[in-house]
Amino acid sequence: MFVKATSFANFALVKYWGKQDKEKIIPYNDSISITWDIFKTYTILETSSRFSFTLNNQRASTKESEKVKAFLRHFTDDVERVRVMSQNTFPTAAGLASSASAFSALAKAANHFFGCNYDSTTLEAITRKGSGSAVRSLYGGVVRWQRDGRVRTIDAPIEDYRLVVIMIDENKKAISSRDAMERTVATSPFFNAWVDQANTDANKMEHALKDGDFTQIGQIATQNAMTMHATMLAATPPILYLKDKSMEALALITELNNEGIECFYTLDAGSNVKVITTKTHVETLVKRLKSHQFTKLYQGKPSFKGAFISDEG
Ligand code: DP6
Repeated sequence: MFVKATSFANFALVKYWGKQDKEKIIPYNDSISITWDIFKTYTILETSSRFSFTLNNQRASTKESEKVKAFLRHFTDDVERVRVMSQNTFPTAAGLASSASAFSALAKAANHFFGCNYDSTTLEAITRKGSGSAVRSLYGGVVRWQRDGRVRTIDAPIEDYRLVVIMIDENKKAISSRDAMERTVATSPFFNAWVDQANTDANKMEHALKDGDFTQIGQIATQNAMTMHATMLAATPPILYLKDKSMEALALITELNNEGIECFYTLDAGSNVKVITTKTHVETLVKRLKSHQFTKLYQGKPSFKGAFISDEG
């Protein structure tokens, strides 16, 4: 028997940064994301005589295999009889939400493969354990993950929004978001202010999204991302993900937006810059980015589908 699941990355407009419960993975603050149709993960589970985990066609490390095994134990007592193959259509662990698409795909696939048929709340609780942000990739469109652990989708007119990711660095990041988050909670003097700000931002963001107020969405999202980075910069030792090239890109995006090319940026735990624009402006934006030597770009549209079973047999 085999089951194949597909899932997509989501990028947050209001970020999740900090866990109030490290065991259950419950955040301190609400976050809101959009699921995009790019940066996919395909995960196949297949009956086998022994456990193996292949990531991007290569045998995974012991640490990665153990993490997958521990995750699968939420679905079965016998993890030894499954072969797991996972394929990302983008660089893994470079701040492109690979853990979100990976664990949402694995959760969907395992729920089906082991015949658990868990309800959505149970599946969300398990998915979070793989990676907090993965819970948002279980769903398409705009998703809000609340600090009480619940997840809900928000109906908003985002069909014409477009994503352009500027690749600054494809290498694995120096510090994982899990470790960076923990260090921020433990040592940043700004952490409480971040939580208050992010919760306020989430409420404002939900309204702005429903109203389709692109300018307001951009202002909140950019300020939220910068507040998150400021909070981690104040940690001990400081956490600095941004590179010189990232900073150059941020300045350029601001300049282009001021010129009337509707766009704004957001940043995650990495140096790559995510730009959100509209259907009307995306071509001009891409042209201008390329003329400034930002040539490695990925473009996407919102996905109204979250993780799903794509094949079985
Ligand atoms: C900056 O979901 O990767 O992308 O729960 O520890 O696995 P863990 O963290 P993870 O963190 C994502 C952080 C972020 C912001 C966001 O996606 O909301």
